[in-house]
Amino acid sequence: MLLQTCAVAAACLAASLPGVAGQTFQRLGTCPDLGCILPPDQQDFLPGQEFDIRFEIHAPQNGSEAAVPNAVPDANFKATITKVGGKGKGKGKGTSPESIAAFFGRKTEPALETWTFSWYEDLFARDARKPSVVRVASRAYRRVALYEPGDYVVNLEYTYGGQKKTTTATWTVRPLATKKKAKNVIFFIGDGMTTNMITAARLLAHKTVNGRYQSLLALDGFPVLGHQMTHSIDTFITDSANSASALYSGHKGSVDALGVYADSSPDPHDDPKVETIVELLSRIWGSAWGAVSTAHISDATPTALTGHSRRRSTLGVLVDQALNGVRNYSWTKTGGPDVYFGGGAEQFIPGPGSFQGKDYYQEFANQGYSVSWNRTALLSAPNNKKALGIFCKGTLPVWLDRHIFPDHVNSLNNHPSGANGPAKDIPGLKDMTLKAIDVLHARGGSKGFFLMSEAASIDKQMHAMDYDRALGELLELDDAIRATIQKLEQMRILDDTLIVVSADHGHGFDVFGSSDTKYAAAQTDPRSKRNAIGVYERSGLSQYVLPPPAGTSYGTGPNFPLNWDPRYVLAAGVVAHPDMRESHGVGPRPRAAAYIGGPGQAYARETEGFLVNGTLPTDQLQGVHSLTDVPVYAMGPCQADFGGTYNNIDVFFKIAGCLGLGHGTNRTSRG
Ligand SMILES: *[C@@H]1O[C@H](CO)[C@@H](O)[C@H](O)[C@H]1NC(C)=O
Ligand SMILES: *[C@@H]1O[C@H](CO)[C@@H](O)[C@H](O)[C@H]1NC(C)=O
Ligand SMILES: *[C@@H]1O[C@H](CO)[C@@H](O)[C@H](O)[C@H]1NC(C)=O
Ligand SMILES: *[C@@H]1O[C@H](CO)[C@@H](O)[C@H](O)[C@H]1NC(C)=O
Ligand SMILES: *[C@@H]1O[C@H](CO)[C@@H](O)[C@H](O)[C@H]1NC(C)=O
Ligand SMILES: [Zn+2]
Repeated sequence: MLLQTCAVAAACLAASLPGVAGQTFQRLGTCPDLGCILPPDQQDFLPGQEFDIRFEIHAPQNGSEAAVPNAVPDANFKATITKVGGKGKGKGKGTSPESIAAFFGRKTEPALETWTFSWYEDLFARDARKPSVVRVASRAYRRVALYEPGDYVVNLEYTYGGQKKTTTATWTVRPLATKKKAKNVIFFIGDGMTTNMITAARLLAHKTVNGRYQSLLALDGFPVLGHQMTHSIDTFITDSANSASALYSGHKGSVDALGVYADSSPDPHDDPKVETIVELLSRIWGSAWGAVSTAHISDATPTALTGHSRRRSTLGVLVDQALNGVRNYSWTKTGGPDVYFGGGAEQFIPGPGSFQGKDYYQEFANQGYSVSWNRTALLSAPNNKKALGIFCKGTLPVWLDRHIFPDHVNSLNNHPSGANGPAKDIPGLKDMTLKAIDVLHARGGSKGFFLMSEAASIDKQMHAMDYDRALGELLELDDAIRATIQKLEQMRILDDTLIVVSADHGHGFDVFGSSDTKYAAAQTDPRSKRNAIGVYERSGLSQYVLPPPAGTSYGTGPNFPLNWDPRYVLAAGVVAHPDMRESHGVGPRPRAAAYIGGPGQAYARETEGFLVNGTLPTDQLQGVHSLTDVPVYAMGPCQADFGGTYNNIDVFFKIAGCLGLGHGTNRTSRG
């Protein structure tokens, strides 16, 4: 309830507006007022981390916020910044308010920009197609940085309907790292990976005797475990774009956005940017960096390292940004990745998927890259040259299909050259990661390296509710981590290397028993098939670790199940799914990513399953991300920093601190 008297008219006007903050439809998520400061309130920076500032003044033309008809947005808004000292008493010194231009040493004000956008205020407005229209006046201050730790208050003063209004944001510059403690960082991301999935994967691949595991996951051997909160800046459920940016830049963003604070303008590439870990690392230490992914390399998790776009679907642009940096604004250029391995040939083959239709194999080759299209070529690529490896169109076929169901892999039409036919001789995450370490170690030399290695299809297969394939990807990640630790030890660089394993978000997955597939198949009434599920004392033990039946080709241990298709399979599910049929256990083909066409038609293998009615809006054709915190495993220098529960942005600050990133003066040269 709202019990307040209005001392100033502006406060009354604000109080009379509907509670826009936190609505599921938002005018601009970070801007509950009509004056918007981007970066908004409560943002943290590394000392010297570069970023853009944008101010927007919104003048609603109609809808519930339009107190003034046909309002013109105030183009004479004034913004100031004041350093108010550090957190805690006596830390840092304050300053008096200065204009943004003066504070950042700019001789001229940036040009005034104007545009109009519209948004729906709620589901009724959407159904009636009655958007609310907003006119905007804006200025953007590009590529600034704050060097001195402490708090800064930004005030934006403007008028709306003849009344003075103020929006305030407090920014915090974190303390300066005093020492570089890790030479190298390897950051493994299990996309969508949760503790529940790790628990299920362990059960699939490792044997218990009387409740005690006889072997464990590589993850189980990590000395430090923490938890990170994954929320976006303006929604509590996140996606892989802004969550990756939070992990890599210490700045939260909006769903769909990479390396920017989403503004309301129509151009997805003019949003205010923030500098990422590899941009800082290249600029400050000149280290080598690389990205490895089992997704298309233009996907959000790899491209968030260098991408600055409001739309993660601008795939061609994002690949160009990785190679050439941001084109239309002055911005740090990393010089391109030293390693770039994954799928997504569509953005490299000249044509509609590539930036400006250009041949990106050639664009990379022109800048000195070796180019590999298969595992054999990858393994023999020179370690002292930059390396591009694109092994198929789209996402790499998953571990389970590559090892257990190759017929499916051979039926695909995904050759990386664009020629008809399947991609052959595809490397796995382990091959790509180990090769990446060779190249990055050779190229980084004394300057060290940063590698991000992503098991992307944990998430992708969870979206399709194909749990066996998802958990196979998780086991492949674990296998890659195990091999990485061994390799670093052999190379005598394990002690110099911080290894972090985490996720960007989760899916609401868990296992609740086992299912007797033989009994289920024998039931004619679909509903009775559910009685094949054994819970509690009937859940039994993992059958996946038993030798495969004679005459089958299964048999893939260690660290993987010996039998992927036992009679008693895991009974598992997710909280968020469309209408579907379920018959537990693995099929020879991946489940379709989406449920289309009505019950029994979506999943080839699920026609005999029992009906599970959906929990999602009916336009959602696959599973969605969930709220859960996700684990952070750490080993190596600074490992102790990663214990406890913290925000996803803190993962960036912990890694950056360990790498001695950030600087207290503007001492960098730039071209
Ligand atoms: C606002 O005005 C536009 C036309 O300018 C109209 O299409 C829209 O329905 C109006 N919205 C509301 C909420 O009245
Ligand atoms: C750093 O200094 C250079 C040269 O004085 C200037 O051009 C640049 O804008 C400054 N960068 C930041 C982030 O303040
Ligand atoms: C910025 O560059 C991107 C491509 O990198 C392009 O799509 C976009 O239109 C450009 N925006 C402006 C404002 O020039
Ligand atoms: C692997 O790629 C090389 C060129 O990079 C090519 O010569 C070779 O035939 C390819 N092998 C297969 C199995 O496609
Ligand atoms: C369950 O889903 C089916 C298929 O979409 C639908 O026909 C049926 O009405 C649903 N049942 C309930 C109780 O919602
Ligand atoms: Zn996802």
